Amino acid sequence: MDDGNSFLGRLLNSPTAFTFNDLILLPSYTEVEPREVDLRTRITTKYFINLPFVSAPMDTVTGADMAIALARLGGVGVLHRNCSREEQVNMARRVKRAESFIIRDVVTITPDMRVSDAIHIMNENNIHGLPVVDSFNYLVGIVTWRDVRYSDPNNLVRDIMTGRDKLVYSDESITIDEAKKLMNDYRIEKLPIVDDEGKLLGLITFKDLELRGKYPNASRDPDGRLLVGAAISPFDLDRAKKLDKYVDILVTDVAHFHNKNVMNATRVLVKEVSADVVVGNIGTKEAVLDILSRIERVDGFRVGIGSGSICKTGVVTRVAAPTLFAVANAADALSEVGGFGEIPIIADGGIKNSGDIALALAAGASAVMMGNLFAGTRESPGRLMALEGKYYKEYYGMGSSKARAKRMGLDRYSMPSKEVEEGVEGWVPYRGALSDVVSELRAGLEAAFGYVGASNIRELWSKARFAKVSPSGGLEIRPHNVFMVRG
Ligand code: IMP
Repeated sequence: MDDGNSFLGRLLNSPTAFTFNDLILLPSYTEVEPREVDLRTRITTKYFINLPFVSAPMDTVTGADMAIALARLGGVGVLHRNCSREEQVNMARRVKRAESFIIRDVVTITPDMRVSDAIHIMNENNIHGLPVVDSFNYLVGIVTWRDVRYSDPNNLVRDIMTGRDKLVYSDESITIDEAKKLMNDYRIEKLPIVDDEGKLLGLITFKDLELRGKYPNASRDPDGRLLVGAAISPFDLDRAKKLDKYVDILVTDVAHFHNKNVMNATRVLVKEVSADVVVGNIGTKEAVLDILSRIERVDGFRVGIGSGSICKTGVVTRVAAPTLFAVANAADALSEVGGFGEIPIIADGGIKNSGDIALALAAGASAVMMGNLFAGTRESPGRLMALEGKYYKEYYGMGSSKARAKRMGLDRYSMPSKEVEEGVEGWVPYRGALSDVVSELRAGLEAAFGYVGASNIRELWSKARFAKVSPSGGLEIRPHNVFMVRG
């Protein structure tokens, strides 16, 4: 008889690596209405977001526009790294400047510069007002678009600026409501913030205060700026340190993180950066335990190998840890060491609809990362194409030849050394505005919580009951025996 250690035994006693298509959630007694569901979740050890959606760091999914739009809706974007360090840092800066309460990274001008310089700086940065500071950073005035528009370009800034005597400014302790009132009372659009000595610390703009009211669900950092993540390679410390100045979350972008060199490099990296560090991708219990024992600080896990819609890893290598299976394993490993719920799991790859999101969360994830579903939106950076009256957007894997041709993407799918493509190139249907896609996913997810009787993600973790679906059952629980007009 077989003892399980023979070759045949290992085949026969292998676990089932189930996927989203194999399981369903069972309905339970409920007192929860979908609109009452609270989807707030922990995205790293430090940060919480209001919607458990993360956009994948791929150059056909997450640039600055996607990161801004998704953070405004309550999720968070992870900026791709298939570009130069400077380009990635610029994307991060754009997200951080999109809106804030107090802007810290203020663009300024000095009084001895010319009006033409002020116009140039304003156009270059797409802003309409510049605090004027001397060489010691003391606030001496402000110039706005209204001041420069009809002025002689050769004039000096000091001659046209609103000087210190008429300037309205404040200190850091001002609240949002006080700032709004002050700006309304004086009919100004920019409010400089200074320290006790009068040195410039920041700037509040009326536009930012208005945007804050417009996106109450947005994910924000403690300064009120939009939350953002960025993908990094553990072997590119320089990039990580540059991004660290602007982003809140660094996400390692490695196809197989459970690798000695990768873990060693990350152990060094986490000590050099202050942002939260999410590591991955991983797919097993042992990976979680090994990583926690070797790396001092881990702020989240990115989990799932081989399930991505553009992923060929499973075909090329026959190695995979499908997302749902991988999430449950990671959740068990974390429970074993008492870290479940404290160090969040992000389920990454293979999400096709809100039902898959519900399953991933129920299996122990705190959030889901999506490439395919977001690639089709207006805000993704991919190309738009029309074919026979329908619109599509380009979507390709970061290990595809197209991404690899950009070279920068190489190390994700070439570490330790790879000669093979692990991603495909393709197109996805154009889905319009991100906000519409997110609303639909959210509504489906809230309905799932309602059926299970869970009013938040923690309750889902404890209340969810699963059942396996037979292949014929899989066909029955989707529309069938009908010619579909729409959908
Ligand atoms: P999707 O949402 O199913 O399209 O999966 C997106 C995920 O696929 C990403 O977040 C990555 O983890 C993964 N991925 C991206 N590019 C590749 C690739 O070229 N090969 C394998 N996996 C990839």
